[in-house]
Amino acid sequence: TQAVGLVGWRGMVGSVLMQRMRDEGDFSLFQPVFFSTSNAGGAAPSWADGAGPLQDAHDIDALKKLPIIVTAQGGDYTSQIYPKLRAAGWNGLWIDAASTLRMDENSVIVLDPINRPVIDAALAKGGKQFIGGNCTVSCMLMGLGGLFNQNLVEWMTSMTYQAASGGGAQHMRELLTQFGLINQSVSSLLDDPASAILDIDRGVLQTQRNPNLPQKNFGVPLGGSLIPWIDSDLGNGMTREEWKAGVETNKILGRGAQDKHIPIDGLCVRIGAMRCHSQALTIKLTRDVPLDEITDILAGGSKWAKVVPNERQATIEALTPVAVTGTLDIPVGRLRKLNMGPEYLSAFTVGDQLLWGAAEPLRRMLRIALG
Ligand code: HSE
Repeated sequence: TQAVGLVGWRGMVGSVLMQRMRDEGDFSLFQPVFFSTSNAGGAAPSWADGAGPLQDAHDIDALKKLPIIVTAQGGDYTSQIYPKLRAAGWNGLWIDAASTLRMDENSVIVLDPINRPVIDAALAKGGKQFIGGNCTVSCMLMGLGGLFNQNLVEWMTSMTYQAASGGGAQHMRELLTQFGLINQSVSSLLDDPASAILDIDRGVLQTQRNPNLPQKNFGVPLGGSLIPWIDSDLGNGMTREEWKAGVETNKILGRGAQDKHIPIDGLCVRIGAMRCHSQALTIKLTRDVPLDEITDILAGGSKWAKVVPNERQATIEALTPVAVTGTLDIPVGRLRKLNMGPEYLSAFTVGDQLLWGAAEPLRRMLRIALG
């Protein structure tokens, strides 16, 4: 069996990836070689039967021996190591969760249930860079891929509701700490049914505006609030996260220079959810398709897309971060034709940002690469 180097397997994305690979029996298909940026020589994880000690993730000679490397170590690691590895003559397959190489012309953004033909074509041509997509984009396409692959999308806006996990583990902790402190600051009033709600509200706001409220990761309070800005400022009014929606979706779908770029744009917003990204979509269809047909197309788009009837109870039960977290399902609901006309469709979708948004496309790509 082939050896596969694993880097960044201990972090949040890496841990989810390892768990999924164990759940699916992937480790029976290859010989794992675990790397570490901080603990070379230490023991491999106890569940990895027979794996040798941890190798140094900065040791180019050690990395060079592997025909396939999978990394969830992050963009700084990729920027630092990848060029050196290629310069040293390494000819293996690089499977990466970070955004560093995503838009490189030699990279394929992997989301095989939606773009398997793009992946296969790249492999046939000797492609060596297979990169996971932005979480919001991957989750959106796992739900809406059917419409895109049938060329029914003329343009789309996406207004997102993104979870704390997109920032990282520290962001999730900070959000929960904020919620806790806010609750503590009004808990005696909350316990008293006769207290006035406006007193509670005032107490909450005071805590939120207290400069001592931990907020170093988000920069401002998120608990009980929201932040309509994600990632860096591109200087044209657009955030980097918003830019990714358009460029990555078109790239995943394999739409090259000769194809018409499908315009996709919108606003990305951080909310106080834990690990599911949600998004409200407005889609201009290329033609008037009846809703029942749209439902079939969406459900047929991938095994994981689940159409939720546009009814109150079904929606509040199935179309939320709480319902979706920890599952591979991508529910799509709130489907209706908007008042603007029969070619204007609304949709709402939710996806676990750590599963389809990060780990799952990588482990599936590894399986494809292993044949
Ligand atoms: N940029 C995403 C977010 C995370 O901040 O939610 C992963 O792509």
